[in-house]
Amino acid sequence: MTTLITKKEKKQKDRFRFATRAIHAGQAPDPATGAVSLPIYQTTTYAQEAVGVHKGYTYSRTGNPTVTALEENLAELEQGEGCACFSSGMAAITAVFSLLSQGDHAIISEVVYGGTPRLCNNIFSRFGIKFTYADSSDPNAVKAAIRNETKLIFVETPANPTLKLTDIRALCEIKGNAKLVVDNTFSTPALQTPIKLGADLVVHSTTKFIEGHNTTIGGAVISANKKDHEDLKFIQNATGSILSPFNGWLTLRGLKTLELRMRKHGENAQLVAEYLEDHPNVSQVLYPGLQSFPQASLAASQNTTKNGFGGMLAFELKGGVKAGLRLASNLSLICLAENLGATETMVTHPATMTHAAMSKEAREKAGITDGLIRVSVGLEDPQDIIDDLDQAIKKASA
Ligand SMILES: Cc1ncc(COP(=O)(O)O)c(C=O)c1O
Repeated sequence: MTTLITKKEKKQKDRFRFATRAIHAGQAPDPATGAVSLPIYQTTTYAQEAVGVHKGYTYSRTGNPTVTALEENLAELEQGEGCACFSSGMAAITAVFSLLSQGDHAIISEVVYGGTPRLCNNIFSRFGIKFTYADSSDPNAVKAAIRNETKLIFVETPANPTLKLTDIRALCEIKGNAKLVVDNTFSTPALQTPIKLGADLVVHSTTKFIEGHNTTIGGAVISANKKDHEDLKFIQNATGSILSPFNGWLTLRGLKTLELRMRKHGENAQLVAEYLEDHPNVSQVLYPGLQSFPQASLAASQNTTKNGFGGMLAFELKGGVKAGLRLASNLSLICLAENLGATETMVTHPATMTHAAMSKEAREKAGITDGLIRVSVGLEDPQDIIDDLDQAIKKASA
């Protein structure tokens, strides 16, 4: 079953604004019963009337109506030609690199989720694919790394965990024949639509803000063109790393409130970032909504700023690693956890948790200092988040 939509259908859908599309795209009332909430089609296979005569579905690795609805929804929100969903964000990234062949070369941002270099350095490199890590915030550094065999440029913007931005439009101008892939997990299409800025593929760990409630692991790749989408659907079926119908359904439910949630994540994060910036024991705060953020103007021009600057920030305490680790273990409301992008505020120590797979040298080059603390600001009352940080900073600095 394909998730491609015709140009005429796209025009009709384009008349709706983001919040409306997030609720309705891909989710007309169930044709069999009229159920407004899309059913979870918990089935392995589908009865065929005769050999080759079916209703578009044959086997749930190849296609499942609940997952198709999610794929249609995400394709529309990201303004792509189609979307393929996967069992995790890493499975989605694996599918993207599976577009490459022996001898191909890819450029990856120096600052990305640690799982991406782990995958490329340890697995794809064994199949004769070459990788270069470049500072993608500097288009000249990316340009210098491009070779004849460069087929992919993979960036995260904002990047995990330093929030460093990549200028998507600038990379599109220099990318030549390489495909630009943007991991849009931190922003979501409520804040940033890379395909509109010229990117070829958008990746999500839907585990994060897209589903938003700490209940699923999932991933997605949205393609700007039909050929890439078809190739990714082929990879999805061939490798079998598919999203389950139940996780698809929970993700669709999360998407219905995406715009609301992202606005509130941004409002709360702005308040937390301002509180931290004014704190005498904090040495640096990285948040794209702060005037002090080194790429504040790019943040404003690349983001749909009406929905704010997202829920992610990073900071460092005076007293470095020791103070940071003490803070993490003295939190009471805020949870010390690997995940991000959910209703609960979560704190991570990237050097020992999410980015432990990177070498210390690579981390330092990417600005992931040992004292850096990443905060995924949730949807609790912002004063309660600040109060908890305040008491933990006091204890950490004592
Ligand atoms: C930006 C980013 N991309 C991809 C991933 C991988 O996603 P998953 O954990 O769903 O496999 C993560 C996980 O933290 C992430 O932060």
